[in-house]
Amino acid sequence: MSTLPLTNSYYDIRPAVLRGDLEHGKIEPYASSMSDSIQNCDTSLPNGMCMITKASPLSYKKAVETLAFYFVRELKFDRPPFTASEYSNRVYYPPSQRTNDANTRSFLWFNEREGFPGHWETFGACSFRLNTDIWRLGWVWIHPFERRKGHFQAAWPFFRSMFGVFVPDTPISSEMVAFLKKIGYPQVVKEYLEERKMNNADSKDQG
Ligand SMILES: CC(C)(COP(=O)(O)OP(=O)(O)OC[C@H]1O[C@@H](n2cnc3c(N)ncnc32)[C@H](O)[C@@H]1OP(=O)(O)O)[C@@H](O)C(=O)NCCC(=O)NCCS
Repeated sequence: MSTLPLTNSYYDIRPAVLRGDLEHGKIEPYASSMSDSIQNCDTSLPNGMCMITKASPLSYKKAVETLAFYFVRELKFDRPPFTASEYSNRVYYPPSQRTNDANTRSFLWFNEREGFPGHWETFGACSFRLNTDIWRLGWVWIHPFERRKGHFQAAWPFFRSMFGVFVPDTPISSEMVAFLKKIGYPQVVKEYLEERKMNNADSKDQG
């Protein structure tokens, strides 16, 4: 079943609503299988965010898929950067190319829905993917009404702590360029890539 809106009006944005778990009525910020990865970070996952990995509820994965659809539509990309079924659909791929927790992690931003305790409206999502030995920020989309409120910047220290120096995938939108400039990130990536190049050259010389 698709979670995408049936109508396809450009103006139609209906982000998915998350429900609390049956036992406590709370959002599960991350699957218990990811506890070590989260606790090894020196920064906490901000409130109002959850991490989606293989063991996350299907409804959370579908919420990421829905927001990925809005990302594709706004930026006019030609294919979805995340699908809810991708963890289970790819048995025909070699194991190294299948989606798993070691190579793919997604995040949702959410707000409690006013007047509906136990219901959370998602308003942003993103996915990181490991490419050989460096994490890439594959995509990120924040609802237009929630932009410029500091949501992405507030999550940045956690992302840096979990993924180290990561590189946003191209093409990079003008909003993202402005964001990266604001936090001085182009210089961070430049220095990291230069250092990597030098280390690679050193290890070749020694070999
Ligand atoms: C890019 C995006 C994720 C930024 O998220 P956000 O939560 O709005 O960003 P923040 O509020 O944390 O921005 C922090 C700072 O970055 C800069 N910035 C962010 N968006 C900006 C914009 N549109 N224009 C100028 N500066 C911007 C500002 O300096 C901002 O601080 P300020 O608002 O105090 O001036 C969001 O604009 C978005 O989803 N855009 C559409 C999808 C997209 O472009 N994805 C990236 C694909 S490469």
